[in-house]
Amino acid sequence: MKPIRHFLAEDTIDNKDIDQLIAWLKTYPRLTKGKVTLEFEAKWSHWLGTKYSVFCNSGSSANLLMYYALEISGRLKNKKVIVPSVGWVTSIAPAMQFGFEPIMCEADKDTFGLDLDHLEALLKEHQPSTVLMVQVLGVPHKMDRLMALKEKYGFFLLEDACAAIGASYRGRKVGTFGDMASFSAYFGHQFSTIEGGLVSTSDKQFNDLLLMSRSHGWSKDLDRSSHEKYVKEYQIDNFHSPFVFYIPGFNVRPTDLQAFIGLGQVDKLDWIVSRRQENHARYKKHFEGKLDFQKCDPESTVCSISFGALARDTEQRRNIVSALVANGIETRIFSAGNLGLHPFWYEKYGKFSAPMADRIHHCGFFLPNNPSLKIEDIDFIAGVVLEAAGK
Ligand SMILES: Cc1ncc(COP(=O)(O)O)c(C=O)c1O
Repeated sequence: MKPIRHFLAEDTIDNKDIDQLIAWLKTYPRLTKGKVTLEFEAKWSHWLGTKYSVFCNSGSSANLLMYYALEISGRLKNKKVIVPSVGWVTSIAPAMQFGFEPIMCEADKDTFGLDLDHLEALLKEHQPSTVLMVQVLGVPHKMDRLMALKEKYGFFLLEDACAAIGASYRGRKVGTFGDMASFSAYFGHQFSTIEGGLVSTSDKQFNDLLLMSRSHGWSKDLDRSSHEKYVKEYQIDNFHSPFVFYIPGFNVRPTDLQAFIGLGQVDKLDWIVSRRQENHARYKKHFEGKLDFQKCDPESTVCSISFGALARDTEQRRNIVSALVANGIETRIFSAGNLGLHPFWYEKYGKFSAPMADRIHHCGFFLPNNPSLKIEDIDFIAGVVLEAAGK
């Protein structure tokens, strides 16, 4: 067995980023959340094309804040939420923690996002107020139809784009479809702030609730007039006003150190997107007609962090995995497979089983897609997979 040469995750914080960070640190700034966080949030909102963004300490916290802001907004007619079978545990966990009633949906055969026929059947049956969708691994979902369903059934859409930064659907960036959208800036994602997450929204009420929830439930992170409104409504004097808690909040704040790194990451995001897209297209060229993999609308821009593929059956997956490992190529299961087959879910709701979600669970695997990979690397990795698949 060869040592690993091609890793699934690489740091997007490079030597130049570290040098810039050191130079900034030598100015001895205050490192807790402050003006650099505001700068990063504004820069991210501008890049994405949304009004507001709230930086926090992880993508999971971003999901937590989204669910919580929605819950306390007073705008839900019920607490039913459709959740995906393919995504991440923290795409669903906050729903469970906040007493929502989650209903699991089958995966789409092309993008591995929500199966839209199943979704529509669930919408008709349960009339949920909320749908949480995952933009799976930077492969944009079928947003025209999903947005038509939103229009028809009138639900709030939480868009988990934690592993999809930089992707776009027919020219519109992923993360601008939902009433709120979350992003992760963890190591190995499209870009990294060491740990980190963002929620973006164009809805002022959600933005204010996100800001308050992120820091204890106080109002001092809001813009001046929104803060003043609280102070006036509750008749708080100036001395007390910074430390009055209007909602029961959390502390999931980031630091300015992470925000400083984030500023540099946004600068190179367009390059990162184009490199990941080129790699994805090269894999696709190799596998078309030979192996199933995540596909999307041809007019969309993919920004995958790993290339997700499906073997014919578990035995073929075993062969492919062995060949990859033997050739120093890192691999793993597809994301978390079917979340409905994990104890966190089935201990409470029973096992969720559906053909595509189960296939992703039992036959899915990841191939590396990092910006540093060269065309020859992709050709080599694809060759190893195809040879093992043929055996
Ligand atoms: C779809 C999805 N949502 C949420 C998360 C959680 O992000 P974080 O690791 O930053 O907490 C991940 C992590 O990979 C993810 O893939």
